[in-house]
Amino acid sequence: MTLVINGRNVRLTAGDRRKNLLTFLREDLDLTGAKRGCGIGICGACTVLADNRPLRACHTLVADVLGRGLTTIEGLAAPDGGLHPLQQAFVDGGAIQCGYCTPGMVLTAHAFLLKHPDPTRQEARRSIGSNLCRCTGYQQIIDAIVAAAPHYQK
Ligand code: FES
Ligand code: FES
Repeated sequence: MTLVINGRNVRLTAGDRRKNLLTFLREDLDLTGAKRGCGIGICGACTVLADNRPLRACHTLVADVLGRGLTTIEGLAAPDGGLHPLQQAFVDGGAIQCGYCTPGMVLTAHAFLLKHPDPTRQEARRSIGSNLCRCTGYQQIIDAIVAAAPHYQK
């Protein structure tokens, strides 16, 4: 039994299926980009993508994502460590302060831009409406999403 995470097959043990996905990612696989904030599916700090759709890992069992392709923030950068254009836009735009929300914000925005590569500012704002940030005031995050959009346009 395997799980595909960031394009890599991860072999599961019998007990892994019943584990909380966020705990499994962070403690078993050392993929610590996804953060535990509220732990009850509200803040979005734990967001990962399943088949390019945002998923709250704190609220998900490993068994629930078998057969789906998972992407964590560690999988968004290039293999050589170069930042994805959306990550770079967050850096360039000052869209990060403490950084706790950032992996979830970036992955949520990435999923949005894959479907909506030419968003209005209002659409960009709505795309992260379910992700909470205690630091930035959101404006720079929205700016970064809009700035990165051309990279998603074919
Ligand atoms: S930690 Fe999962 S939604 Fe807040
Ligand atoms: S940058 Fe601190 S919570 Fe968003």
